[in-house]
Amino acid sequence: MANLPASVFSLEKAALERYGHMGPVMLHAYLGVLASNRLLHVSADETDASVTFIPYAASVWEELFRKKDFSGRSLSRFALLRPSSEAGHLLFECPRAHGHFVIRSCEQVKNVGEILLARRACAPEASPERKIDGGQALLLAGMQAAGFMVDAEDSESTLGLPRELPQWEFHDLYLHSRSRLGRQSDQIGGTYRMAPLQPPDPIAVFRRDHIASIALPIPSPDSLRQLTVGEVMDSRCSVRKHAAGGLSISQLGSFLHSCFFVRGMWKSGEIEFTRRPYPSGGASYDLEVYLLVSRVAGLAVGTYHYDPVHHALGMLTPDNELMRAMLDDSYRASAETCYPDVLLVLASRFRRVSWKYSGMAYATILKNLGVVYGTMYTVATALGLAPCALGLGDSDKFSRLTGIDYYEEGSVGEFMLGALN
Ligand SMILES: Cc1cc2nc3c(=O)[nH]c(=O)nc-3n(C[C@H](O)[C@H](O)[C@H](O)COP(=O)(O)O)c2cc1C
Repeated sequence: MANLPASVFSLEKAALERYGHMGPVMLHAYLGVLASNRLLHVSADETDASVTFIPYAASVWEELFRKKDFSGRSLSRFALLRPSSEAGHLLFECPRAHGHFVIRSCEQVKNVGEILLARRACAPEASPERKIDGGQALLLAGMQAAGFMVDAEDSESTLGLPRELPQWEFHDLYLHSRSRLGRQSDQIGGTYRMAPLQPPDPIAVFRRDHIASIALPIPSPDSLRQLTVGEVMDSRCSVRKHAAGGLSISQLGSFLHSCFFVRGMWKSGEIEFTRRPYPSGGASYDLEVYLLVSRVAGLAVGTYHYDPVHHALGMLTPDNELMRAMLDDSYRASAETCYPDVLLVLASRFRRVSWKYSGMAYATILKNLGVVYGTMYTVATALGLAPCALGLGDSDKFSRLTGIDYYEEGSVGEFMLGALN
């Protein structure tokens, strides 16, 4: 195989001459191993680079040369064609498939476009020489072998829902498959992908541009020791009714200190780290805490940012329409049962995570958010406050309210907090 690229036919012939009848068997086992490591790049022949197929498994490689029958088959609704980071390349992918294509010619873009529009493909001719004639035939054979095709009846809809995996929406399955090992060939994990370009973003935002700074009271060490862990776990629940008097600033201070206050800082080489009450993927601690305060005794109504190093609030805006619109959204998200004393908005400084992680940054951010939700529920219950997570918020409104760039730092979660009745 030293003279790459090589045709399968010529490799089989060479293997047969050298090792006898077991030669081609060994060759295909070896090619299967290369395929499962995403190292096999298949083109129709040595001169045709219009389309390349990259199988992810030995079984896909074996399947590639079997005779195809496309009758009763349809293209999966999850297939997509998109630009690659390499100029002049398009990627044709499907999160159901164990392989993808690199498309390099307009003719093949047209072929893919026709298949995407019609959701149908026709069978390529099988060749006795385990050879696939032409880029279009490779496209079709690879689609069938890798799993781009589904039963045609699955591509129909009933009651407005697709029949093919109706529980999955396109973007959810794409994110799921791309942020896990198994169905992709890109690097994934802690690759420090942005380290060659820039240092990591700072461990915390000490001062957002604020109009006033408010030092918060520090809770007594006993404030979290009234209930045992077992009692907290037994009594934790979502509370959507806040007491008439509203939260006090000391209750809010205790909650923020117990959940978020930075317990320590240290350096490893050039990189700074913090220690906090909750864990965070890669110690990234990307989540910033914003508070839309509607009713806290001792605090003016307005939008605040929490500084977890100095245990202080920075007031970003006084009461305004956008803030009220976000509070109204939270009222609707709680099925119109609760207009919160405080709406906590968790915003990710995305680059804290994407600086290190390839392929799994956004998934890690959502996992970090889940950890913070759990911490907030636990602490609020232990402090005798009323907590409730929310599943939906408006990241555009958050960006406009705070003036923070949507792509730099964006709201990913909301949480209502109030005084318990
Ligand atoms: C990720 C997440 C999202 C949630 N979204 C909402 C929501 O949008 N509105 C709401 O009223 N409750 C929401 N909740 C609260 C759940 O409805 C609640 O946890 C669930 O019904 C179980 O009840 P319990 O928390 O009282 O045990 C959410 C909880 C979580 C963890």
